[in-house]
Amino acid sequence: MIPLHLQPESHVPLYVQLRDQIRALVHGGDLRPGERIPASRELATQLGVHRTTVANAYAELESEGLISGHVGRGTFIRDEGLERRITEVPHPASMNGSLRWESLFADERGEEVLSRLTQSAPRGSISFVMARPAAEFFPIDELRKCSNSVWRREGTEILQFGPSDGYPPLKQAVVGMLRSDGYEASGENLLITDGCQQALDLVCRAFLRPGDTVLLENPAYPGAIAVFAGARARIIGVPVKTESGPGMTPGVDVSAIEAVLMQNRVKMMVLTPDFHNPTGTTLPVAERRRLLEIAARFQVPIIEDHIYARLRARGERVPSLKQLDRSNIVIQIDSFSKIAFPGMRVGWVVGPANVIDRLRLVKQSTDLHTGHLAQAILAEYVRRGLLGRHLERTRRAYSARLAALEQALTRHMPPETKWTRPEGGMCIWLELPPGFDSNELLIHTRERGVVFAPGRYFYFQNPQPNTLRLGFAGLNEREIARGTATLADVLRGEMRKRQRGSRRAEVPRVALV
Ligand SMILES: Cc1ncc(COP(=O)(O)O)c(C=O)c1O
Repeated sequence: MIPLHLQPESHVPLYVQLRDQIRALVHGGDLRPGERIPASRELATQLGVHRTTVANAYAELESEGLISGHVGRGTFIRDEGLERRITEVPHPASMNGSLRWESLFADERGEEVLSRLTQSAPRGSISFVMARPAAEFFPIDELRKCSNSVWRREGTEILQFGPSDGYPPLKQAVVGMLRSDGYEASGENLLITDGCQQALDLVCRAFLRPGDTVLLENPAYPGAIAVFAGARARIIGVPVKTESGPGMTPGVDVSAIEAVLMQNRVKMMVLTPDFHNPTGTTLPVAERRRLLEIAARFQVPIIEDHIYARLRARGERVPSLKQLDRSNIVIQIDSFSKIAFPGMRVGWVVGPANVIDRLRLVKQSTDLHTGHLAQAILAEYVRRGLLGRHLERTRRAYSARLAALEQALTRHMPPETKWTRPEGGMCIWLELPPGFDSNELLIHTRERGVVFAPGRYFYFQNPQPNTLRLGFAGLNEREIARGTATLADVLRGEMRKRQRGSRRAEVPRVALV
């Protein structure tokens, strides 16, 4: 048995204690290269902790390269290059008195735990974790040609400082994209950013003081939660309706928004009406109109996250809030990340000129401006008509992948599970039968080489542990079918175990007399 002693009363999270103690045992030679360590369930039982605690610790050690998990074989102390890693990995305070920085961090970042837990999945795993573009469509040759022509034509401008609101040719290209969306904007309404994430941060810093109230969908994109929580804003969550069908209105609950605005001084709302991350829902046009009327009545601006809107797989296009806005109350943020290349880190904000000007000043104090090279390559890519073609190609592929996922879910999932019916975007939201915890399920599916994003990472209030997100854009149809079948098989197995457990519990017990 491994000598481990956790202190539940400590302010250091249990998984951090466990990670550090196992790391120390490896460094001290008590755990040797090639040695098998207990399965997470076994160790959790030994230590009397939740299995997720052990899984989180193992995931971190795996991402540090100290241990490695192999589907069907178990988890082992790694042996290659161990000496080098021993000198690289920081020693915890308990070993040599050096400062343990982790204990000083202001908060525990849930999404970090998520990414470690899932990125360190065994090699060859099928990962539904991310909502990101499929890398096989990245047009490297086309981009190389765009880049060459940019260097030839405007190399000097690229290398010099430039305007904080964006590289003029890219601003022109985005104005053209907005026009084909049916929305007229000019350069003064547009700020180029390092993606939507930075746009959220700039909006936050331009408008919010600590304690100001922001309304977000709950669940929401964790990056948005992190920005507003980091700014010490008071965040009010509004539920997202995930049921669709005749008479149902999916998407954020507009009546709940109205109720919140009646009772609270809300500074702004941040919403993703199209293919919402994580639920995949789209707010119908009538609800958008009602939302805009309510926002105008209470004079509360809406930050519309439009990042997935161009990824419609089927059904009628719904006009954006920005397009429907007659009160100048919407600021729209958007990006090339989902429709093209997230690594370029380029996005934009569309809004009233005075807002854009303030955001520009805030951006100036952040990074002066977004890198010219990425902006210029994208401008050239749009100018040559290549973005339109790329988007068509990827939209077709994602639409086929979405259909494959729905088909696989219908075929394999037990009838007690429910899932959303997105009309595009990159993810489906799944509800396990009540009482199931998707974090627990992840531990089992991970062992079978399938990972996903547990729902709790998207909630900032009232987490629903039986939910999870399946990102489908990055997987081909075969992987989707195989991954879904495994997921369903593991779930059915867990359901059977429960049934057996509850039957045992039902055996009448005779009182001891
Ligand atoms: C809803 C939503 N908003 C913003 C972002 C961040 O996008 P960007 O890469 O443009 O910063 C993401 C990324 O996943 C997202 O899902």
